[in-house]
Amino acid sequence: MNDTENAVAEGVDALTLNKDNDVTVATEATVNEEQEDIVNPWHVTSMNEAGIDYDKLIKRFGSSKIDEELITRFEKLTGKPAHHFIRRGIFFSHRDLHTILNLKEQQKPFYLYTGRGPSSESLHLGHLIPFIMTKWLQETFNVPLVIQLTDDEKTLWKDLKVDEAIQLARENAKDIVAMGFNVEKTFIFNNLTFMGQCPSMYQNIIRIQKCVTFNQVKGIFGFGDSDVIGKIGFPAAQAAPAISSTFPFLFGNKKVQCLVPCAIDQDPYFRMTRDVSPRLGYPKCALIHSSFFPALQGAKSKMSASEQNSAIFLTDTSKQIKNKINKYAFSGGRDTIEEHRALGGVPEIDVAYQLLKFFLEDDTKLEEVRIAYSKGEMLTGDLKKLAIETVAPIVEQHQAARKLVTDDILDEFMKIRPLNFSGSN
Ligand code: TRP
Repeated sequence: MNDTENAVAEGVDALTLNKDNDVTVATEATVNEEQEDIVNPWHVTSMNEAGIDYDKLIKRFGSSKIDEELITRFEKLTGKPAHHFIRRGIFFSHRDLHTILNLKEQQKPFYLYTGRGPSSESLHLGHLIPFIMTKWLQETFNVPLVIQLTDDEKTLWKDLKVDEAIQLARENAKDIVAMGFNVEKTFIFNNLTFMGQCPSMYQNIIRIQKCVTFNQVKGIFGFGDSDVIGKIGFPAAQAAPAISSTFPFLFGNKKVQCLVPCAIDQDPYFRMTRDVSPRLGYPKCALIHSSFFPALQGAKSKMSASEQNSAIFLTDTSKQIKNKINKYAFSGGRDTIEEHRALGGVPEIDVAYQLLKFFLEDDTKLEEVRIAYSKGEMLTGDLKKLAIETVAPIVEQHQAARKLVTDDILDEFMKIRPLNFSGSN
């Protein structure tokens, strides 16, 4: 079999390939002809103005939809309304969330695992999404949380030196701490440092690497002959924290299941992880997947730190935010006011409306806005104004909280220590 056939035999999905090798180039060309969405850890684009077709993606990835029935069970068990990210379908897909709810029902422990690749650019609003969800889940379930900063990944993929990546990991970690995580229940680590402090992490990486062939990672991630070898081994480093024995200081030798909140582009890593875990005698991690935060230019692509004008950064001033939204936020409105009043706007493609969907917590108000905009009673300008009023204070508050995060506070979060959680003893 040649590489292409092999890739197909391994169940490669065009979505999971990157464009650095021949197999991929051929596959992506096919994808584009069919106008399919591209979703993998390095690329997210859609030809459609409303963005990725998430129902199709669920089918292609083989995950499950977070449906009404699951939300109802979730709310019953937690005794409170689900987070608006769940209610509004922003977290729309899952794997084995029922298993986590069963654990909750039986009062058995589980933990949360999420992460971030610290890249040179500053954080933007889109980066907050998985962390907002994770924080809410941590508070709701009162469980420990591990946060991985993949400075190793960014060294391998970007033009970054080891020392620079470690430094960026610390800077990014301060932004994460500023979101208000509870230090008693949260452990933050960067791979390039932690690996040398905790032998079980490296031991688990080797166990995982022993279970996955080059053909398999080629199939899942599209690695090719000219990729540096560090990339080929890296997926095991993202998989290891999903196995509880990676953290003996947290879980001893208990086999604890974890729940991973992440954006759906990270799913390939966890498909691999879920394949390996049972072979090492551990439960498969459960997942909840978020959709993407749109670029200001529209939902065809996601907000990106490398496209300055596509993103609202956590370092932007209120004035910058106002200007960016007014200037760049893609409008679902009509060409003229008359037309707009007569036909109404299209909230599904309007970025100001999308910003509100993510950040305006009041359901009643959001629904009023949606109806008024759809009927043409509200104009794009009105929506933008409301989006600015909603988002700017959130960024301002983040900046104030970020200022208070000292190196000492960060060191507390990154210290190897037991965490306080029910079920830990
Ligand atoms: N690879 C992710 C990124 O580039 C970072 C990451 C590591 C992560 N572990 C994770 C994301 C677990 C979600 C869940 O951002």
